[in-house]
Amino acid sequence: MKSIDKKSLENAFQLFESGDIYEIEIGTTQALQDIHLYLFKDLFDFAGKIRTLNISKGGFRFATALYLNEILVKVEQMPESTFEEIVAKYVEMNIAHPFMEGNGRTMRIWLDMILKERLTRLVNWQFIDKTLYLQAMERSPINDLELKTLLAAHLTDDVDNREVIFKGIEQSYYYEGYEKDSEED
Ligand SMILES: Nc1ncnc2c1ncn2[C@@H]1O[C@H](COP(=O)(O)OP(=O)(O)OP(=O)(O)O)[C@@H](O)[C@H]1O
Ligand SMILES: [Mg+2]
Repeated sequence: MKSIDKKSLENAFQLFESGDIYEIEIGTTQALQDIHLYLFKDLFDFAGKIRTLNISKGGFRFATALYLNEILVKVEQMPESTFEEIVAKYVEMNIAHPFMEGNGRTMRIWLDMILKERLTRLVNWQFIDKTLYLQAMERSPINDLELKTLLAAHLTDDVDNREVIFKGIEQSYYYEGYEKDSEED
């Protein structure tokens, strides 16, 4: 694990440990920026900042930087009353991919905060396979059924369980390439 990611993982733990997460809005672009800033402050000079360059991943081009601010206004206005609506909103935010790096980790926390507020549920990320999750995310701009099915099978109502939250954060960083038993560092 690179030291920058290790520090960010510590920041993510601290966000919940300190209770600072409860000061952050829910479901807005500002909320996403606040979470990103918290995870990556002092690590990325663009922490909390909306990108101005175009980016792509696995051949998929995320929202054009030129229209990104307008798109983000639309995405944050999307409804979030049902599980289906919340996943649809998460998918659109992923297509927007507002930051140069760190979108995945930031957005998984953002998603959980919406699910907790609206449905008293969290995603039990610790039990979601990395390959299946990333395949579902790659598929999601075209069809979000795979992602919906995967997430729906791993919701928990144990929303105040520390293990659910902290193992979930670890898993989220593992999706990014951090190996739990790595000799690295
Ligand atoms: N081809 C793709 N199409 C759509 N979304 C994708 C694609 N590949 C990855 N994603 C999503 O984008 C995230 C990666 O974005 P980014 O690298 O900015 O975030 P990260 O936090 O640094 O890393 P990551 O979350 O990969 O583990 C993935 O977690 C996944 O949710
Ligand atoms: Mg990344």
